[in-house]
Amino acid sequence: MKTEENKDLILRLKTRHATVGIIGLGYVGLPLLQQAGQHLEVIGYDIDERRVAEIKRLSSSDSVISVSSDPQAIAQASVYIVCVPTDITEDKLPDLRHLKESARTISKLLEKGDVVIYESTVYPGCTEEECIPLLENGSGLQPHVDFVIGYAPERIVPGVEGLELATIPRVVSAGTEEGRRFVYDFYKLFINADIHIAPSIKVAEAAKIVENTQRDLNISLMNELSIIFDKLEIDTQEVLDAAATKWNFHPYKPGLVGGHCISVDPFYLLYKSRELGHEPKVIAAGREINDYLPLFVAEKLESTLLKNKVDINDARIVIFGMTFKENIDDIRNSKVVDLIMALKQKGASVTVKDNHVSNEVMQNIVGDQNENDDTLYDAAVIAVQHADIVTLGVDYFYNLLTEDKILFDLKRVVDIKDRERFQYWAL
Ligand SMILES: NC(=O)c1ccc[n+]([C@@H]2O[C@H](COP(=O)([O-])OP(=O)(O)OC[C@H]3O[C@@H](n4cnc5c(N)ncnc54)[C@H](O)[C@@H]3O)[C@@H](O)[C@H]2O)c1
Repeated sequence: MKTEENKDLILRLKTRHATVGIIGLGYVGLPLLQQAGQHLEVIGYDIDERRVAEIKRLSSSDSVISVSSDPQAIAQASVYIVCVPTDITEDKLPDLRHLKESARTISKLLEKGDVVIYESTVYPGCTEEECIPLLENGSGLQPHVDFVIGYAPERIVPGVEGLELATIPRVVSAGTEEGRRFVYDFYKLFINADIHIAPSIKVAEAAKIVENTQRDLNISLMNELSIIFDKLEIDTQEVLDAAATKWNFHPYKPGLVGGHCISVDPFYLLYKSRELGHEPKVIAAGREINDYLPLFVAEKLESTLLKNKVDINDARIVIFGMTFKENIDDIRNSKVVDLIMALKQKGASVTVKDNHVSNEVMQNIVGDQNENDDTLYDAAVIAVQHADIVTLGVDYFYNLLTEDKILFDLKRVVDIKDRERFQYWAL
């Protein structure tokens, strides 16, 4: 892409004489469609007909949103943005099925002068090694010459106010200098935040993975400390509060690490590292600790019940919150689900309360629940800090419990002054 062509396409986009096609309309693609759609002509494509119907139903009649499950709907697009899932397989290896399929779809629609930008999280090298060959073969066009390939990882945090798409600083890159300039100018059309241009696609891919790997590792250290301090019978938060008085101490908290990003992305880096012949130790250890945490909590609960002469087989346990974090409805890779499964496997009868999760999803995961209002539980676990769980208040939890008053407060929702009313345990 020459500078003139770049300016021309930006101008055509700005005046709505050129179209943007967004592929994959989930947690990333839909907000992007809504934000970019306020400034540009945008059409969304998702392979899932139900998802498309749901978006249509939820959008108001005067909305600018245009979505389809027919790839031909985005055939006229000049810029394609890919937001498809990049999960891991059961063996914890990158699952690139959606990425490859979408590349094949786009390759049939690509024309000279078009731009393809990837937002999906991948390992460094993935766009060039896996996506570009498919785009090239399917279109017969020459990458970096006939069409631009960009990479612009998404950092959106669903459910957190102040971290909306338009205000989050962004990293962008592309395969050529002109491409990088275009991608920068393009995002400037609809976001207000700073945009950092990384020198190559690989650097931008690595930056995204590193952000989430760092967070995974920092939390895993806290989780390991929490396991050790539990054996030492000292309170992790008290230790962290004391240590945090040092000027260069970084505050992190222990907790369940789930979701689609932090608990998944490090596996992409592990895969690439192993492929290159380096067996990663630190990153792998962090993942192992964080994945072990639900079992640790389940075992701790089992032993606490036993100390109170309650066999886990006879125990009724109520869990508050099932999503992977607070105030959202997303249960992907939720470690609360792992905790529920571990407790059920040990024979406990588990009741889960989460107003953010539909009855259908709840039934699929938890099965039939003990919904009797008069039930007293042998233990309660506050697993997610949803606003509507916090507002239940300490008396509510107290009155739900049998006389042992076993409360596992994984998010430290209960005030310090009220903790002595319970057999209180926290990470
Ligand atoms: N969820 C987040 O908070 C978040 C944040 C930053 C980055 N990411 C990354 O963004 C990417 C998308 O994540 P998400 O959370 O939006 O996923 P998602 O599962 O919510 O949505 C992806 C959508 O893509 C659709 N899709 C799958 N294959 C397709 C195809 N071939 N053609 C068209 N549509 C297809 C699916 O039907 C789905 O609706 C992932 O790589 C993820 O790691 C996610």
